[in-house]
Amino acid sequence: MTLPLVTTIESVVFSAADIALAIQRMAEEIARDYAGREIVLLGVLKGAVFVTADLARALDSIPGGPSRIELDFLGVSSYGNASRSSGEVRLVQDTSHSIEGKHVLVVEDIVDNGLTLRYLRMLLGGRAPASLAAAVLLDKPYNRRVEVPVEYVGMVCPDEFVVGYGLDYQERYRTLPYVAKLRAEVFDA
Ligand code: IMP
Repeated sequence: MTLPLVTTIESVVFSAADIALAIQRMAEEIARDYAGREIVLLGVLKGAVFVTADLARALDSIPGGPSRIELDFLGVSSYGNASRSSGEVRLVQDTSHSIEGKHVLVVEDIVDNGLTLRYLRMLLGGRAPASLAAAVLLDKPYNRRVEVPVEYVGMVCPDEFVVGYGLDYQERYRTLPYVAKLRAEVFDA
């Protein structure tokens, strides 16, 4: 039987207000570092769709920030349908425009073992951008399999599998406005 979504949530880890504040802080740092420059915010589908949209609008509302914000997306698949990473990262959808000569900021929902971001940095770094950096809403630094630089971090996440605000478990929960921990029964089902 499929349980109603809300009854499967054990606790809220980051509220919508926590997320908004973290994004505002990241936007202020990014606005300062990219003042007067044209940037490409490159969201990683599907998890980073909300953080990319909210970060773009927060950045746009800061006077003296980037002179132009271009939005683009690419898609990778790493987790499949499990709550454990397979360690395999695949590009499933490429950017719609070339990033050559552009200041690129990759936007990710969460960094855990680091393999996804390392893959993206290698892939995109090979395309001759003017600069490349990463902004990640949630950092889970406990299980890194590779060291990878993350220039902008929203919040440090507890060592739990979390869902909401773009993050899914088996393609569910992405649309929750907060980040939550699921009840153990969900994984046993
Ligand atoms: P990494 O390759 O382990 O660093 O993980 C990056 C990707 O794994 C993220 O973009 C997510 O799609 C997924 N991921 C990692 N941790 C979680 C989690 O707690 N909940 C949902 N997805 C996660």
